[in-house]
Amino acid sequence: PLQAKMLKAKEISDEEKLYRYNGVLYSTLLSPEEHLKCLEKMQAREDDIMLVAYPKCGFNWMVGVMRKIIAAATGVKSESKIPPLMEFYGPENLKVESVLKSNLCVFLAQILVVFRNPKDTMVSFYHFSNSNPALPSAKSWDTFYSQFMSGEVAWGSYFDHALGWEKKMDDPNVMVVTYEEMKQDLSESIRKVSSFYGFSLTDAQVQQIADASTFKAMKESSASSHGNMGNVFFRKGEVGDWKNHFTPEQSREMDEVFNKRLAGTKIGAKLNY
Ligand code: A3P
Repeated sequence: PLQAKMLKAKEISDEEKLYRYNGVLYSTLLSPEEHLKCLEKMQAREDDIMLVAYPKCGFNWMVGVMRKIIAAATGVKSESKIPPLMEFYGPENLKVESVLKSNLCVFLAQILVVFRNPKDTMVSFYHFSNSNPALPSAKSWDTFYSQFMSGEVAWGSYFDHALGWEKKMDDPNVMVVTYEEMKQDLSESIRKVSSFYGFSLTDAQVQQIADASTFKAMKESSASSHGNMGNVFFRKGEVGDWKNHFTPEQSREMDEVFNKRLAGTKIGAKLNY
């Protein structure tokens, strides 16, 4: 179904690719009606495993890792149990957004949130916009930079998203893992995520999952996991690509915004900005 929607997306104009809901832009890959239907139907359960990420923070990486953890710990191949990407991604975000707005103190499900340095996130999002037919193309880097900084991109502002999760950082059902820590020590991240969900893995299992979850390994197997969108979701997989895109002035401005909005927050500290 996703492939069919992608094909359809190629035929519509950039203007029709996004719509606004509660002030935030979303991709019409899932129509407003479909989003709302999912929201109404969704019921969180205590044993749910919920993954959340701002676009391009490493969501697909974590999905791949989680699938392998579940398979190793339970023997159940989880492909069929994890809903397909878009149904998983969009509506859950909306649901979480509405949960945040309703100020519920404790989540029912265990939620894992993946974060990434906003500069690399922006670079990844820029390339994604130009390679994913479901999103309006980014035009120039400078234009995309301004849109990202003002939150006028699909799925809204990185900073608002981070500050939304900041309010939940003391909730024992919420854990944040960063892209950068996964890059630095993937085995350690796998251990951390497994124990958060109560799965116990042997050292050999952790090693096996880490070996199969490198960028190279996941890109090579992306044809089976992501069809012809493999190259779109697995682009470069590095920390620091922002240095090849940001002008010194843009970098300074981002640092200022980061300091103003996220310095002193728990998420800011985790990002080790
Ligand atoms: P780049 O565009 O910088 O390469 P998401 O899944 O949230 O859309 O995030 C996509 C980003 O995660 C892309 O970043 C992609 O290459 C990177 N990524 C995916 N799998 C990865 C892996 N196994 N190791 C490192 N980076 C990975």
